Amino acid sequence: KFKRRIFSGIQPSGNLTLGNYLGALRRFVEKQDEGIETIYCLVDLHAITVWQDPDALRHQTREAAAGFIAAGIDPERSILFNQSQVGGHAELAWLMNCVARMGWMNRMTQWKDKAGKNAEKASLGLFAYPSLMAADILLYHATEVPVGEDQKQHVELTRDIAAKFNHDYKVDFFPQPDSVIEGAATRVMSLRDGTKKMSKSDPSDASRINLTDSPDAIAKKIRKAVTDPEPLPETLEGLEGRAEARNLVNIYAALAGKTPAEVLGEYGGEGFGKFKPALADLAVSVMEPINAEMNRLMQDPAEIDRILGRGAEQADAIARPILEKTYEIMGM
Ligand code: ADP
Ligand code: NA
Repeated sequence: KFKRRIFSGIQPSGNLTLGNYLGALRRFVEKQDEGIETIYCLVDLHAITVWQDPDALRHQTREAAAGFIAAGIDPERSILFNQSQVGGHAELAWLMNCVARMGWMNRMTQWKDKAGKNAEKASLGLFAYPSLMAADILLYHATEVPVGEDQKQHVELTRDIAAKFNHDYKVDFFPQPDSVIEGAATRVMSLRDGTKKMSKSDPSDASRINLTDSPDAIAKKIRKAVTDPEPLPETLEGLEGRAEARNLVNIYAALAGKTPAEVLGEYGGEGFGKFKPALADLAVSVMEPINAEMNRLMQDPAEIDRILGRGAEQADAIARPILEKTYEIMGM
């Protein structure tokens, strides 16, 4: 009943990281290149659930758009836009706020992690974040959502919201989207702490590789990554209990287009003194062209704004009829 359509987003709340690239952005490009209809969004309304300096947000939104294009998103083949420019996201989010239940939001692990013990001081928007994300996806009747592992629970919640809406209003209107989580790098971890995910919101810049990092910075961060003193094991079982080693092997595998087992076949028995320089070279060879293209695109911010503006018009053309129909189903 519903045709295949991909939707996903990334927050323009800081530098895009290697985690965003391997877990999300690179998948976005693959889906586009498979010829499926793809809609990609810089989710600035999500970013402001925690404080954002206005000028920094404007800059980061353009920079994230440049990152998408430099990584291979083609605005002629994918719709690329900025969430706040399509009013339907905020409108449908309100409608979905009235479908979603408080208890469902309370169970979200990202909310618990981000708000922590200070939930009283968190914004109402941070609590409602998953409901906005559900609206983002449902607004386009998207059927597949490529994401990293950390977003799986939010896509499941989207399915619950869609199901409740369809049930309450006795319609078969919203599809139940599937998360698409593939490859060796669905959860890239911090370079400083193998138990934390690599994130643009981590205060330690050394914990992550940014799309904006120079080759020297990338090599230095990998050289200084926290590891144990043991050599790499020959098999995957040997990575048990070695989160940092596992992370670097996963990153290598994802960058090289190999499986982690293949990487261990090559480097098993070698120490990090040999593996880290090889990983640094590989990371630089993949990231440097993206970095160079981002820098080139950032020379012309007006062109980036033009691309985002046109993307917003295309997104709105799909979203508006679905939003109108949602109001009608709800009696408005
Ligand atoms: P961040 O967590 O860096 O602020 P977002 O919340 O904007 O990033 O996430 C954008 C996309 O990038 C999501 O699909 C998310 O799952 C993915 N992602 C973010 N961090 C990682 C990571 N460390 N490893 C794999 N995927 C990630
Ligand atoms: Na995230």
